[in-house]
Amino acid sequence: MQSNAEVLSTLPTDDRLAGRTAVVTGSSAGIGEAVARVLASSGATVVVTAREADRASGVVRSIEAAGGTARALTVDLGGSYADLRRFAAEATDVLGGRVDVLVNNAGIYPVGPTEALADDDLDALLAVNVRAPHVLVGALAPAMAERGDGVVVNIGSWMARVGVPAMAMYPATKAAIEQLTRGWAAEYGPRGVRVVGVAPGATSTRGNADYPEAMDQLARATVAGTPVRPVDVAYAVRFLVSDEGRFVQGSSVDVDGGLVGARLG
Ligand SMILES: NC(=O)c1ccc[n+]([C@@H]2O[C@H](COP(=O)([O-])OP(=O)(O)OC[C@H]3O[C@@H](n4cnc5c(N)ncnc54)[C@H](OP(=O)(O)O)[C@@H]3O)[C@@H](O)[C@H]2O)c1
Repeated sequence: MQSNAEVLSTLPTDDRLAGRTAVVTGSSAGIGEAVARVLASSGATVVVTAREADRASGVVRSIEAAGGTARALTVDLGGSYADLRRFAAEATDVLGGRVDVLVNNAGIYPVGPTEALADDDLDALLAVNVRAPHVLVGALAPAMAERGDGVVVNIGSWMARVGVPAMAMYPATKAAIEQLTRGWAAEYGPRGVRVVGVAPGATSTRGNADYPEAMDQLARATVAGTPVRPVDVAYAVRFLVSDEGRFVQGSSVDVDGGLVGARLG
């Protein structure tokens, strides 16, 4: 099997998302970067985001080198409500006044027992994983609904539906985003905005590079036998945002190699 980097550097291009605009939060690395690159390879114009400009610009350069179109914006999703709304307005602006697709991908996952979770980490978890998607949907979905067209994809996690030791709040934030997916689908769906989720399994990214043994152990319990590649999560996002996904409403697609649905041990 090709590595994530190999697949991303040789993505075939097509036009299934031509003319569409997309904002992918946390797209300087990992799953978000793969989503940005895959959507761009299918013709979408993508806003790539990170906290630092050079990290977002690096991904924009990769997209442009492959013939795609992207713009870099910075935002701290743990920042103020005003910062988040300013970001939504800026993203709309650089995309020519219209955001067709919002992918709420950025997330943080500090590990440790409940009593050891620092107050700042608890605040950041709730802010980045739940508050930011809520504010961005509130800022961007009404315009989609007015046009009668748009898609929101929330990146959840396999952990949303199981208890794991030494990590109680992160899965709770992912359960929240899965429920928000259902709620927003019911709220905005009738006005033409599809809201859907993708729940990745153990995926090799910079964010969990410090836990290779835990990743291998989890992967061994899956049917796939290896960690998920970010690009595989991105393929599911592309399907969901394309017209092919039009009957998926309010549900989350597991891309986890079988970790939740067909666990081996
Ligand atoms: N990796 C997994 O095994 C796994 C499994 C299930 C679900 N997920 C979910 O998938 C999503 C992506 O995970 P990942 O592993 O790809 O993460 P990652 O490799 O750690 O990358 C995180 C991305 O989010 C951005 N980010 C982090 N904090 C931010 C903040 N305060 N403001 C703005 N951007 C911020 C980072 O940008 P900068 O650092 O450049 O600013 C980066 O682009 C998350 O929602 C995660 O919960 C991951």
